[in-house]
Amino acid sequence: MNILVTGGAGFIGSNFVRWMKKHAPEHRIVNVDALTYAGNLESLRDIPQDEGYRFLRADIRDRAKMNEIFITYDITHVVNFAAESHVDRSIVDPELFLSTNVLGTQSLLDTAKQYWKLMPEDKYSREFREGVRFLQVSTDEVYGALGRDGLFTETSPLAPNSPYSAAKASADLVCRAYYETFGLPLNITRCSNNYGPYQFPEKLIPLMIHNCMEGKSLPVYGDGMQIRDWLYVDDHCSALYAVLTRGLPGEVYNIGGNNERANLDIVRLIIRTLGAKEDLIRYVKDRPGHDRRYAIDNTKITTSLGWAPSIPFEEGIAQTIAWYQNNHEWLEHVLSGAYADYYDRMYAPSFESAD
Ligand code: NAD
Ligand code: DAU
Repeated sequence: MNILVTGGAGFIGSNFVRWMKKHAPEHRIVNVDALTYAGNLESLRDIPQDEGYRFLRADIRDRAKMNEIFITYDITHVVNFAAESHVDRSIVDPELFLSTNVLGTQSLLDTAKQYWKLMPEDKYSREFREGVRFLQVSTDEVYGALGRDGLFTETSPLAPNSPYSAAKASADLVCRAYYETFGLPLNITRCSNNYGPYQFPEKLIPLMIHNCMEGKSLPVYGDGMQIRDWLYVDDHCSALYAVLTRGLPGEVYNIGGNNERANLDIVRLIIRTLGAKEDLIRYVKDRPGHDRRYAIDNTKITTSLGWAPSIPFEEGIAQTIAWYQNNHEWLEHVLSGAYADYYDRMYAPSFESAD
């Protein structure tokens, strides 16, 4: 396979590139990333550029560039991670999320469709090169929020509540349309919350680890009883590879860890592990439209593709905390510059100069 990985300098994308190098090194990877604040080449430092791996800085919305990359590297598979991914930022700048997450995805779909089509001039032809596949990395947030009970299945209605999740849901629907109308061989995966090394410290787990290590306040939104289903990032990577190689065209697959935790329990676990004090916790104003609970039914992928999560939360979170303790340099690098301004704007009014 000649795989175009987009957003491969971000959290999950860089872990996916590393996972592929370890578990399926026979495939060639072209990693395309615009290097926004969330993309860091530091996260790929251990991956040498060679015949099997190339990094290119480009924007997925740049159609001419995407077309050139497909031709130059004879791309046969796409794994589309590239996105604006942080809910809080989507509340401040929804337009950027719609542009990147929806139009960026559509630009890639069009490029793949034209390049893979056996008769590109025939607009009604649904025949594509043998074995090609487009994988859209989506999220469980497209389903909206759950109450106390129930799980999201692949047929749950889409009911996104944030500009981020609305943009991801829109991209899912565009993918669906390209399958139904054009027959483009594709899959959509909808995964729950990932955690692990190289996650940008604006997200709950790395933010709490970093602040704990620095003795800074721990901003918990609302009552802290919101629930997420946490999955170690390597388990997400193995699920994506299973779908990419064995998923049935047109199918959606949920991916989840069967691991529901309240935010406050996670924050307390991090405090205990790092030997910090609970009085660092600050209850701050809640996120507008904050989804109360997510939980995934992953029966479809476990029964049809034989995938299952393999890393227990206690083990994964211990490894993750240790990784952040041992990678100060990475943290300092990604935290420099623009992120510092974002952090101040986002949290300073709640802390009232406590830090
Ligand atoms: P991330 O923010 O860490 O990484 C996103 C990457 O995309 C960055 O490297 C960024 O530079 C790049 N990018 C942004 N705009 C781009 C553009 N226009 N062109 C090219 N590159 C661009 O995100 P993540 O947490 O690694 O998430 C990756 C994908 O997985 C996203 O699509 C997200 O919606 C999805 N997802 C994330 C989670 C999670 O818990 N983090 C769970 C389920 C699904
Ligand atoms: O469910 C999958 C989604 O998980 C992905 O699609 C998103 O890209 C990813 O960012 C993540 O979204 P969340 O909003 O669930 O993740 P976040 O880490 O931002 O927040 C997790 C929970 O922690 C959420 O209930 C909000 C809360 N939180 C978050 C931050 C940053 C806090 O209480 N305090 C904080 O400072």
